[in-house]
Amino acid sequence: MQVVSSRSDVRAAVAAARRDGLRVALVPTMGYLHDGHLALVDRARELADWVAMSIFVNPLQFGPSEDLDRYPRDLERDAALASARGVDLLFAPTRAEMYPGGEPWVAVIPEHGADRLCGASRPRHFRGVLTVVAKLLGIFAPDVAVFGQKDFQQATLIRRMAADLDLGVDIEVVPTVREPDGLALSSRNVYLTNGDRERALALSRALEGCRSLFAAGEVDAEVLRALLRRSLSTEGIELEYADVVDPETLQPQIRVGRGTVCAVAARVGGTRLIDNVVLAGISADPA
Ligand code: PAJ
Repeated sequence: MQVVSSRSDVRAAVAAARRDGLRVALVPTMGYLHDGHLALVDRARELADWVAMSIFVNPLQFGPSEDLDRYPRDLERDAALASARGVDLLFAPTRAEMYPGGEPWVAVIPEHGADRLCGASRPRHFRGVLTVVAKLLGIFAPDVAVFGQKDFQQATLIRRMAADLDLGVDIEVVPTVREPDGLALSSRNVYLTNGDRERALALSRALEGCRSLFAAGEVDAEVLRALLRRSLSTEGIELEYADVVDPETLQPQIRVGRGTVCAVAARVGGTRLIDNVVLAGISADPA
């Protein structure tokens, strides 16, 4: 695996892969890799011949009181994991490499869908995500870029961006990878104490409850929302949102159906966690 930190090295490596006729995939991450990230690599390898991963803790997507400075980082460990999983090129730029002029003059600002769910508490978050992803797609010009269902609002907005701006890249979304007890893998899980870790299981359990209710015939979205709120109104969990939405429009649903997403965000011991399930299992999230 080649490890590079400059955009020009990326462009040279991609050009060489293209000369060999290889199909190029990109897996964007902020590092501190876990099996969720590595599942994206596996999917990328199925879809392409040459797989690149980026690791960049993007300051543009963090709010002023968020965890930018303490976000976990371990490039050496990440490089070993990525290499073992078959990543061909790892791009780990500095802030100055990604934003040489400081804050960019031009950003990708979503017109719809970014003001609710995670966007309600993180007002400039998706602007930062879309801007850095647009830059990474510009740097790599991949055939396909792979993202996780875990951040489904992010995946929806990225898919919209690629379509609306004709970026000429396929966006692939991979089901959420979980611990055996159901906890969705996240780089931020390292912040959890043992007690928090136990309490955090309420999120995936509540979402599983929605899945069971739907499987038993419940189609009233308000009943599912009530279940989520009830399950997550326990000591030590500060619920931020619990909603039942259309995966394409991100709008709240009245009646749920195949593909509807149940999504939650909550603070557990100060750590912000998100999770979601797709009802009835569409391809991105088999039941
Ligand atoms: P990060 O949180 O590092 O996640 C990188 C990718 O891994 C995202 O597409 C995310 O949805 C996916 N992912 C995280 N946990 C997962 C899990 N348990 N199962 C499956 N996939 C999972 O998301 C970001 O970074 C950034 O916002 C980024 C897109 C890189 C832009 O900065």
